[in-house]
Amino acid sequence: MGKVTYVAADGAATTVDVADGENVMRGALYNDVEGIIGECGGGLACATCHCYVDDAWAAQLGTPASKDEDELIDSASAERRATSRLSCQIVMDPAYDGLVVHMPETQY
Ligand code: FES
Repeated sequence: MGKVTYVAADGAATTVDVADGENVMRGALYNDVEGIIGECGGGLACATCHCYVDDAWAAQLGTPASKDEDELIDSASAERRATSRLSCQIVMDPAYDGLVVHMPETQY
């Protein structure tokens, strides 16, 4: 279990507990955090779980985006940035306690 802070495009931050092994997209959905849709349920088919990993965390995430994730990020509605990830592909790990992700203005 670790804390994840979701920062909305307007700067509003919500911090919730996310179980180890659970992905960051579901962490938002299970806690009614708006701004992450997760339309495909984590199947790498929608990009509505797009987020920007906080700069302070970008280098600490041990698993980089896979080729499929990387390609799908290109279809996200909001601009792609160097820290863009699909939150369904970030799986909580004890080392990620305190993770901060920023949500784009839109997922559609
Ligand atoms: S929930 Fe669809 S790609 Fe992440």
